[in-house]
Amino acid sequence: MKKYTILILITFLLVFTGCSKKQYNVSDYKIDIDYKENFKIMQLTDIHLGVESDYQYEINHLENMINSQNDIDLIVITGDTFTYSNKEMVKKFFGFIDKFNIKWTFTYGNHDLQGDYDTYFINDIIKQTKNKLFIDYDDDDITGLTNFYINIKKDEINLYRLYIVDSNTYYNSGIKYCYDIIHEDQIKHIENINEYENDNAIGLVFFHIPLYEFIDANNEYEKENVSGTGKNNEDCCVGYKKTDAFKRFKNMNIKGLFIGHDHINNATIYYNDMILSYGLKATDVVYYDSTMIGYKLITLPSNPLDFSLDNVKDVYYGY
Ligand SMILES: [Fe+2]
Repeated sequence: MKKYTILILITFLLVFTGCSKKQYNVSDYKIDIDYKENFKIMQLTDIHLGVESDYQYEINHLENMINSQNDIDLIVITGDTFTYSNKEMVKKFFGFIDKFNIKWTFTYGNHDLQGDYDTYFINDIIKQTKNKLFIDYDDDDITGLTNFYINIKKDEINLYRLYIVDSNTYYNSGIKYCYDIIHEDQIKHIENINEYENDNAIGLVFFHIPLYEFIDANNEYEKENVSGTGKNNEDCCVGYKKTDAFKRFKNMNIKGLFIGHDHINNATIYYNDMILSYGLKATDVVYYDSTMIGYKLITLPSNPLDFSLDNVKDVYYGY
């Protein structure tokens, strides 16, 4: 009987400690980089490399595209880089993206974990590269795999803050699978970052699945009530419920939301004092419009108050 008690106790401790999540400090999620005049961000999205895509063909395309713009300061990859991929392809891709000697950062889409690897494999490979700006803790207590931020500084002042957020994958409502959302604890974490930094930096959020406000913004854009560029050719496939993320982002001096997910949408809309922008799909894998392939070029002016629609451009780069 005593033996059983000890066994149960050991099992309980193993299970309990194995599942325990750790709370990190807000500053543990911080990356600082220097601002450069006309700081340029290349947003790549929905690359969708997988066992059914022609890896080398797509990589050649991406290489030509990246090389076509010679003054990029940062590449931001906003999800669905992989779909039904494998370890070899993941390793090769991050070796490829790291070789340009351009800083790059990465967040997840709903498909990236649908591969022949475990949840933390992509994180582990990224951590081995040289030019990544990336933080994640496998054992942290925040939902999702990326919840870090990048301060872009000039003379010790944060001009811009990029929040790199995982909008997660799917939600099972019991009746059907829907897209997930940015969870409450992630929004709270962004608020904690904002409170901790306590500055006037302008915030830009990069994630994958649109908020409901992308639908509202598009409706207003189609009625010509608000200004913008580009066109949305399919419904905005939002998460399973409307949250107050947008409202709370606005309270944190966040001025831009940059997403992917809907491959034939590329509208950039000024709505409710915020820029809501779909990236251009980077490749011709899965569904696409061949006239809507390329990347978004986001230029950060030295006075953050000047950041406007004019600073977000579509750069078409087909095959
Ligand atoms: Fe996608």
